[in-house]
Amino acid sequence: MRAYSSIQNKGRNIKVAPSLLSANMLDIGRDVARVRDGGADLLHLDIMDGHFVPNLTFGPDMAKDLHTMGLPLDVHLMVSNPDSALRWFCEYADYVTIHVEATAHLHRLLREIRDRGCRSGVALNPSTPPDFLPYVIDQVDLVLVMTVNPGLGGQSFIPAMLPKIEEIRRLVDEAGLPVEIQVDGGITADNSKLVVEKGADILVSGSYVFSSDDVSGAIRNLKTPSPSER
Ligand code: DX5
Ligand code: ZN
Repeated sequence: MRAYSSIQNKGRNIKVAPSLLSANMLDIGRDVARVRDGGADLLHLDIMDGHFVPNLTFGPDMAKDLHTMGLPLDVHLMVSNPDSALRWFCEYADYVTIHVEATAHLHRLLREIRDRGCRSGVALNPSTPPDFLPYVIDQVDLVLVMTVNPGLGGQSFIPAMLPKIEEIRRLVDEAGLPVEIQVDGGITADNSKLVVEKGADILVSGSYVFSSDDVSGAIRNLKTPSPSER
């Protein structure tokens, strides 16, 4: 497993993971460098298969190239068959997140992600309750709370997800394990404080970050409040 001191910090310092779905595909290397130099903590790569979600995005070659850009790679698999996708992405990723709705074998696949040298993540669609979590939490490094329906960038944050973030924070704290909570979808400087207060550690943000002329300012705004204020 690749080691990054900020990620291993047990403190609740807030991390930002720009979603490359909103980068300029004709100039993605430049956009990755912009967010890396602007203070991003992770690169969030959305993999969509045209089946689990209607959209199609990137394949493992993109992960292979991004892996060389100097930031941990956070792969979000929105695919119907995560079982067969793991071997393609685990080689290059630091985090691999699968959807609970996409597999009948969550426990086994989370363990496989770790066995393949990555941090294991489980994602929940907006309508999915977190009641399964205590049964797999010892296999989980990250819980991704979808705050929009997956499939597209640029959607509006769903406020009804706030109590779910809070409930997952409680479950994680009760378990006493170093599980990070990630939120993804419609995250902007207008709601980042709220999701952090509810318990989020990692903020995925696509359109808000990449539509800004001042990427480092946008990342800084998302990280408010600072860890000392929490
Ligand atoms: C949605 C993806 C998100 C998306 C976030 O299915 O998982 O990562 O790109 O983009 P914004 O921040 O624009 O909602
Ligand atoms: Zn995502």
